[in-house]
Amino acid sequence: MQLPDENIEYDYRRLLAPIPDAWTPLAELQAKHFLAPDKLDPMRTKLNAIRGQIASERELQNPPAKLQPLQVGYIDLPQKLLDQFRRRGEQSELGKLNRIATRIRENVDRFIVLGIGGNHLAGRVLFEALGHNHHNEMPAKMRMGRPRLYFEGNNLDNDSVQELIELLDHNCVDPDLPEERWGFAVISKSGDTLETAAAFRAFRAEASRFYGPKSEWLRKMIVPVTGIKGKLRELAKADGIADEDILTIPDDIGGRYSVFTPVGLLPAAVVGLDVRALLLGASAMTKRFLEEPFERNPVLQFAAVNYLMTDEHGMSTRVMNVWNRKLEAVGHWYDQLVAESLGKSGRGPLPVTAVCSRDIHSRGQLHQEGPRDKVFNNLIVRQSKQPPVMIGMSDRNEDELNAISRKGYPDLLEAAFRGVNEAYYDGARPAADIVMPNISEHTVGQLLQMLMLATAVEARLCGTNPYGQPGLETYKSNLMRILRASPNLPKGEVRDAAKGM
Ligand code: PA5
Repeated sequence: MQLPDENIEYDYRRLLAPIPDAWTPLAELQAKHFLAPDKLDPMRTKLNAIRGQIASERELQNPPAKLQPLQVGYIDLPQKLLDQFRRRGEQSELGKLNRIATRIRENVDRFIVLGIGGNHLAGRVLFEALGHNHHNEMPAKMRMGRPRLYFEGNNLDNDSVQELIELLDHNCVDPDLPEERWGFAVISKSGDTLETAAAFRAFRAEASRFYGPKSEWLRKMIVPVTGIKGKLRELAKADGIADEDILTIPDDIGGRYSVFTPVGLLPAAVVGLDVRALLLGASAMTKRFLEEPFERNPVLQFAAVNYLMTDEHGMSTRVMNVWNRKLEAVGHWYDQLVAESLGKSGRGPLPVTAVCSRDIHSRGQLHQEGPRDKVFNNLIVRQSKQPPVMIGMSDRNEDELNAISRKGYPDLLEAAFRGVNEAYYDGARPAADIVMPNISEHTVGQLLQMLMLATAVEARLCGTNPYGQPGLETYKSNLMRILRASPNLPKGEVRDAAKGM
């Protein structure tokens, strides 16, 4: 059950233009660059209409051409998965995912996720937000036997692939020893994304060398995650991977909206995260979105405020200030969501992630005094996961920190947050806060679902289709055309050619 204090909220009060007691240069600047409170009221009717439209889009069997592509499966998926699991247990999608994840968890020490775009960021966001910062460096006992997790197939970087293979070659010599075994997921909905397909070839050949081409382990340690049909499914079947060992990305869910499909849930389950709590959080957010009025609806608030700041105030850069290192990948995941969903027809904000206080020391100057083209969304967490590291008294006080000896890191961060945001306010730089009570599966589930839904609402406000990425498809087909047209010869010295399984 969701307690009210576990709710995520969006607090945009500081971004509203205050009613000045007297005319001052600051009041004038704030009136110009902050949001006039009376701008939000007329939005409510429009927002309710869009919410109704999105709710009804979920029921459309044959969407009209002007709505296509329409990929709204992510809205109800969390609750559907939970309901199906309750009814069918091991026979459900979640049951299947748990079975595969348990097999991996119990048999390998290293697991690699191959995928790009949403297929990379979904697993990364959950692993980084909810895992230990140094998970991979921990001894197996401290990881409670959960495998180390790596990400590849998210670039065309030769050295990155080669160095991961080198790491495996060095540490994984005997496939009979569980602590030396490794496996991987290959995630691609279409099955024809080059970055992922090429990495699949490389790691498939490597696994075949390690386990032996006829070994049963080989089939068991590779998990394809793909669409209902496509090249990857065909290839997996040809390799002898059974249907019950292939996880499916539903047709009506696009890459950047797929975090609660096996794309995100498989890596999460492999490293032992509470998948059901994630889904409960996401489902609670869908319910809030569909049922709550504007005042209690962070999805509508976030969409409306960001739309107005971008489209009416010309804030073309949207900075996500992330106040917890664990949430950096949330920022990058949101970058993709915004860029691919809103960046169409010559429109769309530039999304940027900054980790605070780290990036205040690199980009803070620009944010405070650079062009007035930015709106800031702080992502803050009220309660840190770990007990506070205290400053403490020292017999050497040259650094003069004894004066704050009874404070801990959470106090330092709070002061930095206030310092930056007071400066923003006094400089008429608009900023609002997404507030998380803590970082847990339940709150991360809410957060990601909130950002996906808000992006869809914002796109509809702009008259943009939030789904599909036609610009990216052009890159994909150009890439293959250029490769096929150039001589089929390698550049540089070659490592063993991939031989397949
Ligand atoms: O959001 C999207 O759909 C894209 O960024 C895809 O995630 C990315 O291009 C990978 O596509 P695929 O799953 O077909 O390999």
